[in-house]
Amino acid sequence: MIRNIKTSCEKYLENTGSKLEIIVGNTIENFENKENVKFDFKNKAAVITGGAAGIGFGTASMFLDAGARVSIWDYSQEALDRAKAELSIYTERVQFVQVDVGNRQSVAAAAASLPWPIDILINNAGITRDKSFAKLSPEDWDSVITTNLSGLYNVTKGLFEKFNPKSTDKRIINISSVVGIYGNFGQANYASAKAGVIGFTKTLAKELGRKGFTVNAIAPGFIKTAMVKLMPTEVLEKMAGQVPVARLGEVDDIANACLFLSSHQASYITGTVISVDGGIVL
Ligand SMILES: NC(=O)c1ccc[n+]([C@@H]2O[C@H](COP(=O)([O-])OP(=O)(O)OC[C@H]3O[C@@H](n4cnc5c(N)ncnc54)[C@H](O)[C@@H]3O)[C@@H](O)[C@H]2O)c1
Repeated sequence: MIRNIKTSCEKYLENTGSKLEIIVGNTIENFENKENVKFDFKNKAAVITGGAAGIGFGTASMFLDAGARVSIWDYSQEALDRAKAELSIYTERVQFVQVDVGNRQSVAAAAASLPWPIDILINNAGITRDKSFAKLSPEDWDSVITTNLSGLYNVTKGLFEKFNPKSTDKRIINISSVVGIYGNFGQANYASAKAGVIGFTKTLAKELGRKGFTVNAIAPGFIKTAMVKLMPTEVLEKMAGQVPVARLGEVDDIANACLFLSSHQASYITGTVISVDGGIVL
């Protein structure tokens, strides 16, 4: 039906020289603008770990804007309070939960508090403790592996039974990093964890495809969040200069990829790692 309307409109617009915007599943409006597909997550619920700041917060905001119910899981109570204030217009559709993804008891308590079954899990929580290998302490190793890799297991396992059994579009999206593909000086702990995220993603994609899940990873390049702002300005400027699209990434660049991979339209994509990095090769 939508396709028929689209074709008729396109024919009309071809003759008049105008452009078309399509809101999939809803209405057709704004004939002046470029073609633009918006996703509708009105009957969907998502959990986003590390959702109170940076990429997670941007992604949570975008899902809420697209109609989803969202549980924001984060370690930092301060960040959760800030997020709660910023997202106050969505009160009925958003839940804020203080949780440490690296701690199974904490994850079990958070999972028990979920007010609704879920369709989408975005495993995004992550930390860095950067040091060259010679200086890398056991604590630097353990904390990064515990949060970034064991956290992935803890949360996915803890929420596995919380997925809506009726949902045919179940989604797990794991935030890896370009560093997990190429390695990076001073990040043996982080690169190992992020490479592990990719192995986990591919394995779950194989195991869970027949159960209605797609499982994908996103490998961000350098995105402007608190994590990257820890790096010296001159290093960041050098990085930006090396990116083929000539800029560092924005939180929305990653959030857009999360929404696309979570959509019904992405149902034939699984087990992939999508680099959202402006073309950077380390
Ligand atoms: N920013 C980048 O350039 C970049 C690049 C590649 C990958 N990534 C990945 O993207 C994800 C988000 O990064 P970001 O830049 O938004 O980071 P950020 O530091 O801005 O936000 C991370 C959020 O995760 C939360 N968090 C940390 N440890 C947690 C834990 N144990 N339990 C629950 N929540 C916890 C923090 O409180 C914070 O709110 C991470 O997995 C990161 O490794 C980021």
